[in-house]
Amino acid sequence: MSDGIEGRPEPDDARQQCFESRLDRALKIEPPDWMPDAYRKTLTRQISQHAHSEIVGMLPEGNWITRAPSLHRKLILLAKVQDEAGHGLYLYSAAESLGTPRDELVAALHAGKAKYSSIFNYPTLTWADVGAIGWLVDGAAIINQIPITRCSYGPYARAMVRICKEESFHQRQGFDIMWTLAHGTPPQRAMAQDALDRWWWPSVMMFGPPDAASVHNEQSLRWKIKLFTNDELRQKFIDQTVPQAERLRLTIPDPQLRWNEETQHYEIGPVDWDEFYRVVGGDGPCNRERLSARVDAWNDGAWVRDAAAEHARKRAGSEAA
Ligand code: 3HC
Repeated sequence: MSDGIEGRPEPDDARQQCFESRLDRALKIEPPDWMPDAYRKTLTRQISQHAHSEIVGMLPEGNWITRAPSLHRKLILLAKVQDEAGHGLYLYSAAESLGTPRDELVAALHAGKAKYSSIFNYPTLTWADVGAIGWLVDGAAIINQIPITRCSYGPYARAMVRICKEESFHQRQGFDIMWTLAHGTPPQRAMAQDALDRWWWPSVMMFGPPDAASVHNEQSLRWKIKLFTNDELRQKFIDQTVPQAERLRLTIPDPQLRWNEETQHYEIGPVDWDEFYRVVGGDGPCNRERLSARVDAWNDGAWVRDAAAEHARKRAGSEAA
């Protein structure tokens, strides 16, 4: 029971004040609490797109489950991809707590009206890509998601606690694949470098547009949905990842990358935002393939959903009798 917001027929300005005072006191907003429509709307947008990203994110790595180089690597990859499915279901549940049914959220994805992370629209061409995704993409996801464990919306913050713990395993297994390849034969080293060359910039873009072009940064920071800006998290990722690439004796594909002793941060060359907006706009290397794979899976699974719903109806009927 939240502290007296729910159920009180107060004028919106009084409830707005109550909402804001809870944010100021770092109290969570829970599903039954009053919240501004715009807060509900932007959370439904972000959480559902996060869930879509987890589900679509299964596809690039799933492509390598049958081709993993050993049973050991296959088992690890299977566990990781299953984790991502669970993250998606967790996040759909958190999104539904804001009032929009899951089927509606998924229909928006299938109709191209809802987004998922740009990073999943790139192909996984070699086994090293599985390592690069774990190391870079899950590494970026951890940096982006740990602050969300402290965000203002209760169900989202709580869902993130378990998800972040599992992401840490994802990042470690990815780095382990890259370490094995980078210390392997020359062709294996070359495969690892090629994967870094192809996944570095899309991983940098994953954090969203530059702050100056971010549509939601300011409001999401005010509502403590975001605790850091896109550029702040991007910088944290770069500062953390460059030394890791050095440990792997791999080269970051950016000739302008340099350490700034004064700011104690790495500086990178220009990001190709035209590519980012092209991929976000649906014109990336794998956008069509990803979306049709999701639509096909949804349609193929209709009988399972119908059977489960029928079973639930029968069970409710027998319990009521
Ligand atoms: N891919 C696709 N769309 C993106 C994007 C990206 N990498 N970055 C930003 N966008 C979209 C936003 O969704 C927004 O469009 P919308 O209004 O239609 O939703 C628009 O670009 C403007 O961007 P903003 O910065 O203003 O948007 P946000 O404030 O929402 O910030 C975000 C974008 C940082 C991705 C934020 O939404 C967020 O933190 N989301 C939660 C985390 C998440 O979704 N991560 C995605 C990867 S999940 C993952 O990696 C799983 C792991 O297991 C591998």
